[in-house]
Amino acid sequence: MAKPSSKAPAKDPTPVKAAAPVKAPAPAKAPAPAKAPASAKAPAPAKAPAPAKAPAPAKAPAPANSGVPVKAAAPAVARAPRAAVKGAKAPRVYRIAVLAGDGIGEEVVREGLKVLDAVAAIEGFLLERKVYPYGADHYLATKEAMPASALAEMGEMDAIYLGAIGDPRVETGFLERQIIWGVRQTFDLFVNLRPIRLYHEALCPLKDKKPSDVDMIVVRENTEDAYAGLGGIHRKGTPHEVAIAEMIYTRQGVERVIRYAYELCKKRNKMRRLTLVDKANAIRAQDIWTRTFAEVGAEYPEVEQDHAYIDAACMWMVKSPEWFDVVVTPNLFGDILTDIGAMIQGGLGIAASGNIHPGRVSMFEPIHGSAPKYRGQNSANPIAAIEAGRMMLEHLGEAKAGRRIEAAVRHVIETGRVRSLKAGAYKCDEIGDIIRDAVATGQGM
Ligand code: IPM
Ligand code: MN
Repeated sequence: MAKPSSKAPAKDPTPVKAAAPVKAPAPAKAPAPAKAPASAKAPAPAKAPAPAKAPAPAKAPAPANSGVPVKAAAPAVARAPRAAVKGAKAPRVYRIAVLAGDGIGEEVVREGLKVLDAVAAIEGFLLERKVYPYGADHYLATKEAMPASALAEMGEMDAIYLGAIGDPRVETGFLERQIIWGVRQTFDLFVNLRPIRLYHEALCPLKDKKPSDVDMIVVRENTEDAYAGLGGIHRKGTPHEVAIAEMIYTRQGVERVIRYAYELCKKRNKMRRLTLVDKANAIRAQDIWTRTFAEVGAEYPEVEQDHAYIDAACMWMVKSPEWFDVVVTPNLFGDILTDIGAMIQGGLGIAASGNIHPGRVSMFEPIHGSAPKYRGQNSANPIAAIEAGRMMLEHLGEAKAGRRIEAAVRHVIETGRVRSLKAGAYKCDEIGDIIRDAVATGQGM
C-alpha cells in the first residue's frame, strides 16, 4: 500500500453521505489428538473530510468478470507513492473507498466510520473517503453493477471499506460476483484474513470454552478454487444437464498464501502452530497444498506444521478450538470454516475480515451478509464492521489506532457494557456510540 499522502484534506469537509441506498485438529478424523490440545490455557470524532478526488484512472482494470477468471485478472493498478510532505505536523491522510452496499451495509458502515473517525482524531490522521453507490438499488435503477472506471479509481486509493452485498431482488450471486469477487479478483487480494477471538465466555455457544480457548486466525486463500468461475452449466433444464465448477489451484497462488500464513504465525508468536486444512484425501488436486505446505514450511523451522482435513477441522473447531493458532486453507473451505469460527466467537455480529494483498489497496468487510430484512431498522450489530475498520487501519500501518479500537471493543464486551451481539439486542447506532466513546476515552487500554 502506498504511503499515506500527508497533504491536508480538502477544505470544506462534508460528512459521509449515507451512501445511496446502497446499500485440534488432530490428524485425521478418528482419534483424539495425539498431542493434547493446549487447553486452558475523546475528542469528538473528526468530521468526515470531503470525498477524495477521483484520480484519473491510470489504467482501467479488467471489469469484474463473472465467468472465467483464473487468468490473473488485470494486475492491480500500480500505485505511485505519494510525495512526502514537508512540515512535520501535516496529518496523515488515507483515501478510503466506501462501498456500503445492500441491506444493513449502510448502517453498519456508518457506525464503523464513526468509530474510525474518533480514533483518527486521537491518533492524528484523516480518513478521506469517496462513497460509491454500488449494490442492488443502484443496479436495479441503472443496470450498472460495478463499472471498470470505479474499480480503476479504487485502485488509486488506500483501502476499500465494504458493508455487505446481496439482495433477493437480483439474481442469486450476481452482485456478489460483480462487486465482492470483482474487487478481490481485480486487485488480486489473495489473502482473506479472518481473526476468530472470543471476548466473553457468555457469547460462546460451546460449553465451558473461555476467551483463552478461542483465539485463532484463519488465512483463507481468496482468488482461486471453485470461486474462480471456470465451468458452467450445459444443456440447462434438460434431463441431460451438466453443471461443472472447477477447483483451480496454481502453484503461485497456493505458495503465496501459505507463505503469508507462515509469516503471520511466526510474527504472532502465540503457539507457532500452522494448521493446513484441506481435503487432499478425496480431492487429489489438493496434493499441491500438501506439498507446498511442506516445502515452504522447511523455511520456517520455528513453526509447527499441523494438518486437518476439512471435515475433521469442523469437528475440532467445535470440540477443541484451543488447538488452533493459525489456519491456512483453500477458498471454499475457508468460507465455510469461518462461519463456524464466527459462531464460536459470538456470532456474525462480531466477525470481520480483510481481503488483502500486502502492499496494495485492500478491502475490509464484515463476514456477515446484507440481512435485507433488518435493513433500515437500526438493529444490526455494527461491531463486525467496526472490527473490519480496525483491520483496515492496521493494514494502513496505524497499529496504535488498531489497538485502541481492539481495546475498546474488548472492554465493552468484557465488562458487560455490551452483553449480546445479536441483531436487535441494541440499536445499531447505540453500539456505535458506546464503542466510539470507549475509543475516545481510551477504555481497555
Ligand atoms: C464471504 C461471503 C462471500 C464468499 C459471498 C458473499 C460471495 O460468504 O465473504 O465469506 O463466499 O466469499
Ligand atoms: Mn462466507
